[in-house]
Amino acid sequence: MTQEYEPEATRRETGETESSRASRGWWDRNADEYQNEHGGFLGDDRFVWGPEGLDEAEAALLGPAESLRGLDVLEIGAGAAQCSRWLAARGARPVALDLSHRQLQHALRIGADFPLVEADACALPFADGSFDLACSAYGAVPFVADPVRLMREVRRVLRPGGRWIFSVTHPIRWAFPDEPGPEGLSVAASYFDRTPYVEQDETGRAIYVEHHRTLGDRVRDVVTAGFRLVDLVEPEWPAWNQQEWGGWSPLRGHLIPGTAIFVCERD
Ligand SMILES: C[S@@+](CC[C@H](N)C(=O)[O-])C[C@H]1O[C@@H](n2cnc3c(N)ncnc32)[C@H](O)[C@@H]1O
Repeated sequence: MTQEYEPEATRRETGETESSRASRGWWDRNADEYQNEHGGFLGDDRFVWGPEGLDEAEAALLGPAESLRGLDVLEIGAGAAQCSRWLAARGARPVALDLSHRQLQHALRIGADFPLVEADACALPFADGSFDLACSAYGAVPFVADPVRLMREVRRVLRPGGRWIFSVTHPIRWAFPDEPGPEGLSVAASYFDRTPYVEQDETGRAIYVEHHRTLGDRVRDVVTAGFRLVDLVEPEWPAWNQQEWGGWSPLRGHLIPGTAIFVCERD
């Protein structure tokens, strides 16, 4: 009888190659469960920025919906590309990129009729100046070891004046246990400890990786890559949302931010 190995959760250093390999494997293995669990909340053709439920239809962080018509848009870490479907319905021309083949199969399942590209966000397979706008809702950025490299790639494929808007876990969350209940309200680790969160198998190989940056680090990353930071949005937990998503919950959401959205522009 084979025994299922319970992955070990730890904090340790991990580089670009190991992080990328771990993410591809984890999202391929877990895409079905992820879409099953969160697909209803995300909706097949809505653009939701994170577990708070902030909807682009109201937030307009990409600009007024009418201004999106005819724009070439790159969605990074698109998952099942629900956001790209919302963009396509507004007359934009989206391209949805993700590292995970299985996630992109879900994009096909829910009816994506625009290009889907399987690639790593740190090596974008597009010519310079191909897009007017790039966006990402929790895709790729939290999972890469070298976010400046990713940002530089995004800048390269954007046209002058292009915008880059992305959401990530709010950095303050790293100081707290990733629990939705009261146990997730007491500081348990240093906010300043950038050591990545790694789940590893019995041989010590990473099978899931998340990289922590402080708020200052994230600002520095976008500026170093050549962007101007125009806004930093911390969505508040709305009264209508009673749904938990992992460590995100109404209880914690009313007290501490869960998501940070960076609105950036390139010259
Ligand atoms: C939390 S999901 C977000 C997907 C979608 N925006 C959503 O809200 O469901 C993160 C996605 O990022 C993708 N991803 C992780 N690392 C990546 C990388 N280096 N390059 C491209 N995509 C990556 C994963 O495959 C996964 O689909």
